[in-house]
Amino acid sequence: MNVSAKTEDFAPKATAAIPDGVYAETVLSVEHYTDRLFRFRMTRPAGYRFRSGEFAMIGLMVGEKPIYRAYSIASPSWDEELEFFSIKVPDGPLTSHLQKIKPGDTVLMRKKPTGTLVLDALTPGKRLYMFSTGTGIAPFASLIRDPETYEKFEEVILTHTCREVAELKYGFDLMEEIRNHEFLAEIVGDKLKHYPTVTREDYPFQGRITDLMESGKLYTDLGVPPLDPAIDRGMICGSSAMLKDTKELLEKAGLTEGANNKPAEFVIERAFVG
Ligand code: A2P
Repeated sequence: MNVSAKTEDFAPKATAAIPDGVYAETVLSVEHYTDRLFRFRMTRPAGYRFRSGEFAMIGLMVGEKPIYRAYSIASPSWDEELEFFSIKVPDGPLTSHLQKIKPGDTVLMRKKPTGTLVLDALTPGKRLYMFSTGTGIAPFASLIRDPETYEKFEEVILTHTCREVAELKYGFDLMEEIRNHEFLAEIVGDKLKHYPTVTREDYPFQGRITDLMESGKLYTDLGVPPLDPAIDRGMICGSSAMLKDTKELLEKAGLTEGANNKPAEFVIERAFVG
């Protein structure tokens, strides 16, 4: 054993100070779905307000420094806890550490939530499509558990496309939770339709959502007419390529993109990884 190693062995462990102006919250539960996906729930700071569908900057102290990434808040605005659905990137600056969190650990959160996937950014309509791939389902996990979504829309269609069947589990768990929930079950009723598809394994519903829209199979499967800007509204969350391609199809159908200060027929948000 050399001298420097010995010195390190006996040195007291440095505990880095939590930065000012951020919340330091406690992890309550962690669920791993696959080697690429996990979900965690943590305490919600007193007085922390957000609109369902918004995202927050979530971080960890890595050594002496905090590292943050944008994460859609997956829990609805009325929930007492905060939920997040995350990818695990093996060398990701944040997720390589975040995937190891356990109940009782501290997670940092910047104070201000933001985002465009909110009901306020859409003009009134009858049917709301939520198009998601991978962890892009997270903001919709929030919105499908918010009663306001069902006050504003008669029908809500959540599409979730993943590479593999195992990656769909979070979505199925959400549907199950809603069906068994003491007050959501009645509010949601049969208004919510879940349309899961897979692209790299055999599954009854197969293919990219963009291909299913173009072929019309999505609408036939759901028993609804093709997109109509007079009644249909859309929200999109996924990879940059998926956002671009889905946006093009919505625009081709005559829907225009909206924003918080200019509501219109559809809105988009990146799926955040890191
Ligand atoms: P595919 O397997 O054909 O690439 P990722 O993990 O790469 O973000 O992909 C998640 C899902 O999104 C996959 O099923 C993938 O299909 C699909 N996908 C990737 N790019 C697009 C795109 N441009 N349009 C629609 N779906 C996409």
